Order: sequence, then C-alpha cells, then structure tokens
Amino acid sequence: MRLHDKVALITGASSGMGRATAETFSREGATVVIADIADEDGALVVDGIRTAGGQARYLHLDVTDESSWTAAIEVILAEFGRLDILVNNAGISGTFDPDLTSTRFFDQLMQVNAKGVFLGIKHGAAAMARSGGGSIVNLSSISASIGQLGVHLGYGASKAAVKSMTTTAAVHYADAGIRVNAVAPGMLPAMRTSRGSADPVWRAKQIDGVPMKRAGEVREVADTVLFLASEEASYITGVEILVDGGLTAV
Ligand SMILES: NC(=O)c1ccc[n+]([C@@H]2O[C@H](COP(=O)([O-])OP(=O)(O)OC[C@H]3O[C@@H](n4cnc5c(N)ncnc54)[C@H](O)[C@@H]3O)[C@@H](O)[C@H]2O)c1
Repeated sequence: MRLHDKVALITGASSGMGRATAETFSREGATVVIADIADEDGALVVDGIRTAGGQARYLHLDVTDESSWTAAIEVILAEFGRLDILVNNAGISGTFDPDLTSTRFFDQLMQVNAKGVFLGIKHGAAAMARSGGGSIVNLSSISASIGQLGVHLGYGASKAAVKSMTTTAAVHYADAGIRVNAVAPGMLPAMRTSRGSADPVWRAKQIDGVPMKRAGEVREVADTVLFLASEEASYITGVEILVDGGLTAV
C-alpha cells in the first residue's frame, strides 16, 4: 500500500475529483479526512469508504475561513496525532456567473480558489512540520496557463495564483521536509458550480481541441495526486503535472 499509515486531509472531497482522491487514498491505506461545506454528500463519501473497510471522517471546513482551518487542524492532530498529506482541491468554476467580468464573482473566485489554497498551505504546513514533514498537492488548472472562451477572467488568475504558490511554498518548506506540487486538470467532468462549461456544445468544442479526443476521468486525476502525495515522488517538489490529454501541448 502506497499510503500505509498516512493521515490525509482532502478539501472539497464531497464530490468530483476530491471524492475520487479520497477513495483512492483510502484504498492505498491512508486515513482520510473529507473536508467540505457540502456536509450531507461528505457524510456519504465517509460511509462508502468505511463500508469498503477504510478509515475516514468528515469535517465541515470552509476553505475561505481561517478559523475553520484552525479548528480542522486541531481536530486532526487531537484525533490522529499527525498530518502527512494535504490536498487543496476545493474550488469553484469560472463559469458559475454568466457575467464574465463580474467584480463580485472575481472576488469570490479569489476567495475560494486562491485564498483557500493559501490558508491550506499555511495551516497544513505548520501541522506537517510538527509531524516531521509531508506532502501538499494543490489543484490548479490548464486555465492557469491558457485562455479559454466563456471562462471568467478571475478563474485563470486564481489558478495561476495556485501555480505560483506551489513553487514558492515548495522552496519555502523544503527545509521542513514538506514537498509541494500541483496537478492541473484539463477537460474533466463539469464541476458542481459549472454553468457555461457544463453546456454540451461548449464541452464538445473543447474536447475537439484535445489531441486524445475525450474528457479525462476523475480517476486519472486522483491517480496523479496519489503519485505526487506518495513516496514515489520523494524527490519531486515545485512542479505542476498537467492531466489534460495533450490539450495544452497543441
Ligand atoms: N472539473 C474540471 O473540469 C476541472 C478542471 C481543472 C481544474 N479543476 C479543479 O479541480 C478541483 C476539483 O474540481 P471538481 O471538478 O471535482 O469540482 P466539484 O465542484 O465536483 O468539487 C468541488 C468541491 O469543492 C467544494 N467547495 C466549494 N467551495 C468550498 C469552500 N469554500 N470550502 C470547502 N469546500 C468547498 C464543493 O462543495 C465541492 O464538493 C477544483 O479546484 C477545480 O477548480 C476542475
């Protein structure tokens, strides 16, 4: 098992790629903490993992709220004594608001997608340093590096912030034995908050531009997060792995 005895906190794990990552980590022997604001769905993920014989618990964690982070880390250290892995996965889509230049939505994107990751790194790394090191994996996006029609200006900016914080944090926390990396998905199943990007016509056009001519599966992202979180990536820090079927290679 690649994560035997590890304690992992995964934000936004009530659905999508966070959920798939939690289930993958559990199969690899980790104790997983599912953290989200979607409490009912989070409880279902925990039930599923426990039924399959794994160890999991749910925590309500709003990634934009610093006191929520402090409380979550306290619970994890009190209950499990350590934190080895943090996956900063929670996020909102850049197509939730049809007004692609909405200032209010820009602020919201920055709060959840950028500040949420900043707070995670800050509080997660402090806990990991106490446990002798660890691994942080952030979910960025191809939107950090390319422009996409129909996506709010702030989405790519928030994901570029994630990409940048990944490299800076990798340098900052290397001494503490903490690796920090990012996974940048391309066309994956639509997010809960996707509106424009959930439109079949928009998706078909995007997928047409993917050399592999298909969307990715959440499992394919979860497996990449697993690799970066595991000891197999012990000399890898500060990188972003694209999981995009070649979309940005064109
Ligand atoms: N789906 C895609 O096509 C795609 C592509 C590139 C990057 N991403 C990124 O991957 C990550 C996961 O996306 P997904 O497709 O699984 O989306 P999703 O919408 O299925 O899951 C996101 C989860 O984050 C949670 N969340 C939202 N705001 C939160 C907050 N303030 N505090 C805690 N949890 C919160 C939601 O409740 C949800 O469970 C996101 O960061 C997203 O931006 C997604």
